[in-house]
Amino acid sequence: MSDIDCSLYQKCKELAGELDACTMLMYIILVAVVILLAYIYIPKVYPVFFAMMCTYCNNKFAHYAVDAKEELFSDMSELRESLKTENLTILEIGAGSGTNFKYFPSGSSVIALEPNPHFQKYLKRNASAFPGVEIKQIVTDWAEKMTQIGDNSVHAVVCTVVLCSVKDVDAVLSETLRVLKPGGRFYYLEHIYCEEECFTQRMQRLINPIQVRFSDNCHLTRTVADNIDSAGFSEVQYRKFWARKMPRALFIMKSQMLGTATK
Ligand SMILES: C[S@@+](CC[C@H](N)C(=O)[O-])C[C@H]1O[C@@H](n2cnc3c(N)ncnc32)[C@H](O)[C@@H]1O
Repeated sequence: MSDIDCSLYQKCKELAGELDACTMLMYIILVAVVILLAYIYIPKVYPVFFAMMCTYCNNKFAHYAVDAKEELFSDMSELRESLKTENLTILEIGAGSGTNFKYFPSGSSVIALEPNPHFQKYLKRNASAFPGVEIKQIVTDWAEKMTQIGDNSVHAVVCTVVLCSVKDVDAVLSETLRVLKPGGRFYYLEHIYCEEECFTQRMQRLINPIQVRFSDNCHLTRTVADNIDSAGFSEVQYRKFWARKMPRALFIMKSQMLGTATK
């Protein structure tokens, strides 16, 4: 290579080096900006996205839960008789998009407690299809400390697919007992940790950390029956079952329980 060629080669190399450094710097700035934006906005966007996704899934999969919910809420007519009231005051914790309104007896008043305010528009829309059931109040709060709900103030507390997500199951149960009138009843339907050592159980354990992280703290490995048994209710009844009708893809949630607990 001649001297001229050699210096040209050197110059090109320097320029390429400079360009690389610039490109690298731009990449670093871009990645930093993306991380910063995600850090600022994901906590704000996530609840909006979750409310939308959850409502979509509820609407799409609601029919798989019809039998279980009809069985669970059929008990409410008996509750009306035992508490000698025509109109039940129901507190629904983690009310979400209001998928349970269709099962509540006509004349009921519902206090919908839901920490994620982005569910409200879906809840109101769903509830409007059941004019016999009134939304008495929407409370944006966590079920672990329901400061806006008075002691012995409601006939029933309803909780479907919520105990899997709460931060403290025992605190929620203790608050449920506090707000229920004597003789009032707690209604629950939850997916639970599979009892037998089997493929489903292994997958529940494997997927759980991802599920908790990306699905609003929803745990696949909770066995809430023990918590309910020891919460201090006077009578506890539940049935564990395998939700056969649910799509195969949701097999990790097919292990379920439904029941009531009376104060
Ligand atoms: C899977 S969704 C179920 C919604 C509704 N119960 C249903 O069956 O369609 C779980 C709900 O629990 C709510 N949730 C999560 N943690 C909660 C807590 N600590 N207290 C009350 N609600 C909670 C979520 O915001 C969400 O609406």
